[in-house]
Amino acid sequence: MFPATPSDAIRPRRKPRRLRTILTEARLERRWRANAWQGRFDYDWSAIPYNRIALVNLLLSGRPQARYLEIGCAGDELFRAVMAPVKIGVDPARGGTHRMTSDAFFASWEGEGFDVIFVDGLHLYDQVRRDLVNALKWLKPGGWIALHDMLPRDWKEEHVPQIQSRGWTGDGWKCAFEIAATPGLSSRLIAMDHGISVVRPREPGCLLADRRAELADRRFAFLEARRDELPLVEWAEGLDWIRTGGV
Ligand SMILES: C[S@@+](CC[C@H](N)C(=O)[O-])C[C@H]1O[C@@H](n2cnc3c(N)ncnc32)[C@H](O)[C@@H]1O
Repeated sequence: MFPATPSDAIRPRRKPRRLRTILTEARLERRWRANAWQGRFDYDWSAIPYNRIALVNLLLSGRPQARYLEIGCAGDELFRAVMAPVKIGVDPARGGTHRMTSDAFFASWEGEGFDVIFVDGLHLYDQVRRDLVNALKWLKPGGWIALHDMLPRDWKEEHVPQIQSRGWTGDGWKCAFEIAATPGLSSRLIAMDHGISVVRPREPGCLLADRRAELADRRFAFLEARRDELPLVEWAEGLDWIRTGGV
């Protein structure tokens, strides 16, 4: 076959994007192989009938005046499906309503608080923790906070820096240990849609337990070994817990 243009004849052909991704991931995996860990969780997220969209709409049910905030919106897959009359979505790159980082948003927000806040921005422990602390400040009494991507299934899904493009959860899961250690917070880590921590403060002004010194350098192996310290439940039990008020 003839080349389409004269320049195609001399330019080396670029590898297809998926192949480039596979090669990059393989290179990164080799670079960080000292952090490899054999253990894994065998969740098949696609086999669970409900996802974060169903969960957020359940949290909003019975609140016709609800105010919803989403941190990290991307393609608006969740944001556009949320049934609330007031929706604010914050993302520095795309989606939502406010083109800025969550830190900039919380530093400048002067409006009312929110009934449901979904945290799904930058999946690094320090950032997820800051988003959670700010969410606790801006949550209305009786409200809910949900945090996405809290259950990496293996060391590659969890690894920081990111070495895998699909299904990367990062290390926001460390916040689940701090939530569990905070007496003023009622919570469940629900095994659905990459893991969703759902949090309900028992009283306003609750301060998150600070376990940063202990958790900062932990990796997937810690989560695997210590998961019994978390209120980890299967999806049906988690949704029942929400329906009965999360206490
Ligand atoms: C996993 S996606 C969000 C998916 C979306 N919540 C959904 O369920 O369909 C993460 C998003 O977080 C955004 N993000 C990255 N850093 C952020 C930050 N500092 N503040 C807010 N969003 C951030 C990214 O641009 C990306 O679009």
